[in-house]
Amino acid sequence: MVLEVFKNTIVYRIMPDSIDNSLIEEICGILRNNGLIAFPTETVYGLGALISKVDAIKKIFIVKGRPIDNPLIVHVSSIDMFIELVENIPDRIIRLVEKLWPGPFTIIWWKKSIVPDEVTAGLPKVAIRMPAHPVALELIRVCGEAIAAPSANRSGKPSPTNAEHVISDLFGLIDAVIDSGETIYGVESTIIDFTTNPPRLLRPGALPVEDIISLIGESIEIPLFARGYCEAEYAEAPGMRYRHYAPNSFLTVVETDEYSSGLRNVVKKIREIVELNKNRFSRLAIICSSETCSEYVDLGVRIYDIGSRSNLFIVARNLFKTLRQLDSDNIEFAVAEGFEEKGLGLTIMNRLRKASGFNIVKT
Ligand code: TXA
Ligand code: MG
Repeated sequence: MVLEVFKNTIVYRIMPDSIDNSLIEEICGILRNNGLIAFPTETVYGLGALISKVDAIKKIFIVKGRPIDNPLIVHVSSIDMFIELVENIPDRIIRLVEKLWPGPFTIIWWKKSIVPDEVTAGLPKVAIRMPAHPVALELIRVCGEAIAAPSANRSGKPSPTNAEHVISDLFGLIDAVIDSGETIYGVESTIIDFTTNPPRLLRPGALPVEDIISLIGESIEIPLFARGYCEAEYAEAPGMRYRHYAPNSFLTVVETDEYSSGLRNVVKKIREIVELNKNRFSRLAIICSSETCSEYVDLGVRIYDIGSRSNLFIVARNLFKTLRQLDSDNIEFAVAEGFEEKGLGLTIMNRLRKASGFNIVKT
């Protein structure tokens, strides 16, 4: 398909507390006309098309440079809209999503034929969530149809947490961007496949998997690829098979199994790695926690304080922004500290390990 390159991408500014409905109507008009719109969610910005507009769905893959076997998440604005898209949905699943939505939780369930194969990359299951962002919810509600949307970045780049990130990746390639400022979580939703027994975590995200486990009262399988240690071994989670979130620089992650006693070794190892590479690169950087950043100042490299170990919400929120900052600061070689794999720590480590291309050093 020939890619239609727009000369301009319209930027709409719509803040969540003052939504102008005539603008939302106008944007729905673009979507109904096979358009592509980047819009905010509480996690990251999405690049949306109406699910019935198959040509627009195909265009999403082209403008993102996304492999066509990597399915999209469908965004709904009501439980009724969800029920229309899925087959044989048990009551317990409806009760679960009623508790977790709107919010950063994506459920995988069997799809009805109304969901085009282009959305699910031919899979019989569909990923669905209801975003907790007033602008996203209003957009879907006014359009009266679910919106399929991956993150609004070029494939392989960190997901966009503000409209500037979207513009830098996709300006001129999409019809419009809705700028609503920074997103809240800064990392994507948690994806769980509930068609398997036990349910399976496909991607840790903004909602800690422990919260879901305690809510459902049963275990959830956490495969190695969900921890970011490897690619998914089977086609059911194709999005897990590509390098993601990658900055232009080399990135190494240094981690330990035991952060309370092992953090000193992490710092020591990072210092060694930086010293070893100082002559090979002129622009080096360290991504560290607020607690340990001062340990590196004498090295004379760029330091990015990503937040405190006692507030992983902030670390997660800063993560993609920092990875993009490496690029805008032309960093050639970066080393990041690891974080304990608890709560949002699992999400952070999944993203960091993948961003590094599995370049992981254990101490
Ligand atoms: O927070 C989020 O989830 C954001 C916002 C925009 O909602 N969206 C997002 O989409 O992160 P994307 O496309 O970047 O990531 C979707 C992931 C991919 O890894 C894809 O493989 C997986 O969801 N996925 C989608 N449909 C699937 C399916 N039917 N089976 C298995 N995995 C699926
Ligand atoms: Mg993505």
